[in-house]
Amino acid sequence: MKVLITKPIPAIGIELIRNAGHEVTITPEDKVLSAAELIQQSGEHDAILCVGGYALDSAFLKACQHLKVIALFSVGFNNVDIEAATQYHIPVGNTPDVLSNATADTAFTLMLAVSRKAFYMHKQILKGEWKDFHATTNLGIELTNKTLGVFGLGRIGLELAKRCKGAYNMNVIYHNRSTNKDAEHLVGARLVTFETLLAESDVLSVHAGLSDETKGKFNKDAFSKMKQSAIFINTARGALHNEEDLTKALQNGIIWGAGLDVTNPEPMTPDNPLLQMPSVAVLPHIGSSTVEARNGMAKFAAENIIAGLAGKKLPHLVNESIYTHVEK
Ligand code: 8YV
Repeated sequence: MKVLITKPIPAIGIELIRNAGHEVTITPEDKVLSAAELIQQSGEHDAILCVGGYALDSAFLKACQHLKVIALFSVGFNNVDIEAATQYHIPVGNTPDVLSNATADTAFTLMLAVSRKAFYMHKQILKGEWKDFHATTNLGIELTNKTLGVFGLGRIGLELAKRCKGAYNMNVIYHNRSTNKDAEHLVGARLVTFETLLAESDVLSVHAGLSDETKGKFNKDAFSKMKQSAIFINTARGALHNEEDLTKALQNGIIWGAGLDVTNPEPMTPDNPLLQMPSVAVLPHIGSSTVEARNGMAKFAAENIIAGLAGKKLPHLVNESIYTHVEK
């Protein structure tokens, strides 16, 4: 059968699909398909391995009902209309676990970089501003014994919590819909209300998926309830925070700093005021960009494709309800 891969992925994934006897078409690295091109090309294939932020919305799914499987090259699936995919009986797969270490490392890097104004100080050297010693300016803050708050403590949040506990003996609190027993056992994490999470976190790191419930959750109101010394970290999805409210909260000293691997919108433009702020660090959505994570993602996505084309349940399935879905 024929598989469309919307950008080059590590060879391990391509080989697995080819070795299973399927034909692969790979969109070149620099080519971004228009919505019409994506529909037209998907129409010529039995499955799509979707790399990048393509919107697989209801219009796409309606036009591509023939697809036997959609395999995402991501753990996040907010770019797919899952309800429509389920309605058309298309299984959607993602790549959980394999990128948890890489993404937690990204959040940890941002936390440290912000706490010592590292990106800003680096820029001072480039500007020729490294002149003499200053005893009282551009001071950072230390993390030892501080409180880490995690919004959406799952696999990635737990990896971050382990790092923060091990390196800085940080106290861990979290806000979830349900308890995370592993986190409570491994790092002594404590489930708290959203209000308490805001009020008590010295570092508040976001690891929830993007949904109607979480969209814009970190807004003016939320920032106003955080400590003035707090650091906000987002490595999940930019739309979880209101970027204008975040910028104002930082400009007005409502919170102390922010580290972002995801922005709203993406890509961030170079004139964004956040890029000039001392206690802000921004990365261009590189959470999963390690050799290990990307190889793992390629393998998981390929396994999803192979299972879907064989009519089997995907090993990493997002829409479980596909098997219980009844036509309305
Ligand atoms: C991807 C991600 O690199 O897995 C996710 O949800 O955000 C990243 O790992 C990105 O979505 C590109 O497909």
